[in-house]
This record gives sequence, C-alpha cells and structure tokens, in this order.
Amino acid sequence: MNDFSDKKLDYKQYVVDSKLRYFKPHATKIEKSFAEEISFSLSQNSKFINPKFFYDSKGSSLFESICLLPEYYPTRTELGILKNLESDLLPFLDEQTKLVELGSGASVKTRVLIDIFTKLQTKTEYFPIDISEILTESSEQLLKDYGTLHITGIIDTYEGGLEFLKNYDEKKNLIIFLGSSFGNFTPTNGEAFLKNIFSTMKSGDLFLIGLDLVKEKNILESAYDDSADITAQFNLNVLSRINNELDADFDLNNFSHYSIYNEIDQRIEMNLKSLVSQSVIISKSNLLLNLEKNELIHTEYSHKYQVNQIKKILCDAGFEIKKMWLDDKKYFSLTLVSKN
Ligand SMILES: C[S@@+](CC[C@H](N)C(=O)[O-])C[C@H]1O[C@@H](n2cnc3c(N)ncnc32)[C@H](O)[C@@H]1O
Repeated sequence: MNDFSDKKLDYKQYVVDSKLRYFKPHATKIEKSFAEEISFSLSQNSKFINPKFFYDSKGSSLFESICLLPEYYPTRTELGILKNLESDLLPFLDEQTKLVELGSGASVKTRVLIDIFTKLQTKTEYFPIDISEILTESSEQLLKDYGTLHITGIIDTYEGGLEFLKNYDEKKNLIIFLGSSFGNFTPTNGEAFLKNIFSTMKSGDLFLIGLDLVKEKNILESAYDDSADITAQFNLNVLSRINNELDADFDLNNFSHYSIYNEIDQRIEMNLKSLVSQSVIISKSNLLLNLEKNELIHTEYSHKYQVNQIKKILCDAGFEIKKMWLDDKKYFSLTLVSKN
C-alpha cells in the first residue's frame, strides 16, 4: 500500500464523475474536533475562537459579500495583480504542473490562474483544499466553465490537505495561498506553517502567496469594519454556528463586533465583545461559559507585512524567492517561491 492509499483511509471519497471527486474526513471526526476545540479555546483566560470556524455555508457566503465591499480592497487588488502576471509565471509552468490551492473558497481569483493553466495544458488538474463545503459549489461551477479541468477537492484543514497531497505523484505542483489568509496565523504558528508547506513540497514545486501590506490605519480599520456591517455579521455568525452545531444558547444581541488595528503588532484584531455579564451553555462542548461585561472573545488576526518582512519569513522557512509583484499603490503583494 503506498502513502496515498494509506492516507485515503482517513477520508471518505465522493466520486461525482470522471472529472470531479472529493475527499472529506469522516463526519464524526469533524464534529468531535469542533466541539473539543471550542471547549478548549473558550475555557482559557483569554478566550478565542479559531477563525477556521467562521466558514459554515452562511459564513462562506458572507465572506463572498465582504470581498465585494468598497472598503475591502484586498480582493480586487490581488485580482488586479494576478491579471498581470501571466507572462512572468508561464516560464515556471509545464504541461503537467498541478494547481493546488489552500483555502480556495469560491475560487474566484483562481480563475485567472486556471485561464493560464488551461491555455498551456491539454488537461489541467486542480486540487482545492478548503474546510468549507463551498468547495463543492465552486468546483461544479468551474467544471461548467473549463472543459479540460479535472478537480480533486479536499474538504479539510490546510494541514490535512497538505498531508493528503504529500507524495501524491511525481508531477510538479504550484501551491497557491491567496487572500492574505496566512495573516490569520500568529507569527510563531505562521513560521511553523511555512516550514510545513516547505517540507511537503518536492524539489521544483512552487508556492505563490498573497499577502496584505502595511498601510494607513483608517484604510485597514474600514476594511474590517465596513459601513454595511457585513463584517460584523460575518464575525457574529460564528456564534450562530456554535448554537446550531454544538447546541449552545448564545444570544447574538448580547455581543458586538469589535475590530481594531494594532500598529505595533501590525495586525487587525477582530473580537466579539460581550455587552453584558452573561452565561452561555455549549452542550456538546460540555461547557458553561461565563463572560464579564466588555470581555472580548478573540476571533481573528489579520497581520499586515512590509516587503522586507515577507522576504525574510519566506527565506527563513527555506524558500528561494523567484518573483514578487505589487500593485501600483503597494497595497498588496504576491510572491512566488520555490524549494530548490
Ligand atoms: C479569507 S477566505 C479566502 C478565500 C479565497 N482564497 C480568497 O482569497 O478570497 C479563507 C478560506 O479558507 C478557508 N479556511 C480557513 N481556515 C482554514 C483552515 N484552517 N483549513 C482549510 N481551509 C480554511 C475558508 O473556508 C475560506 O474559504
């Protein structure tokens, strides 16, 4: 039994047709880890909820709405950079290169890269990895639009997906991680995550990472606290998800969205603020949660970077920098690195 079939045992496989299949961990494993992680993170002195739990189907759809907000510059800026990198990227690709995406979401920006791949290749293989079921909708849509595309979706964490694809085959991979999702990691966890990616890559594989750059505080704060309150709904929705899936009784009226830019640590800090002193039962996590008035539950960091910091963290993880692209305003960056 090779490594791949060994790993497949941890997943349920759903074959839709010859061009589309998914792998997903068994349902009991997913529910157990959600309940246990929430039990742990909400029992700490500084309470937190891992941002990966934002993305139930409502959370994923709210995120798509965020991407269209006038204040949310990252999506359109990164898309603009992607649209201009074809001639720079082509020399790094070949007929066999597979496209692997961490946190693919609706795969909207990915289409620019799929355009480049499908022009070059007779058959293009795309491996989206996302914890959210949105992956199935976006994959079906992509297959309607690209006749030569073959999709293997992995509905799991980044780490699970990377482990699944390690030693998958001998073909070269371009792994992409867009939307500055890497900025959700603390610096220590980010460093470990990059080393993990590096260790799963074969010599010659490539990694393309999109990272948001440091800019004026008011631009950053508006992007994460928009005037239509969509980001607030997105943040609060994680409590609805816990209510629905873990039998909890959060009253959303007792919480508000609280997001600030911390200039010293170069990050947006997103929290849910408890508006009253309250107790919440989370049955499936076996937890009675007591919150003080004004106590914060931390939900997401979104780190911002200077260009020299990006180069340093990538080089420290062992990567060789091949290219870096910025938009005209220097709001956002894309960096292509290799393992050589
Ligand atoms: C901020 S969205 C970015 C989506 C898309 N890449 C973009 O740039 O617009 C993050 C995506 O990653 C997924 N995600 C978040 N944390 C994850 C994790 N730990 N493992 C796997 N997927 C994750 C979410 O479901 C969501 O689709």
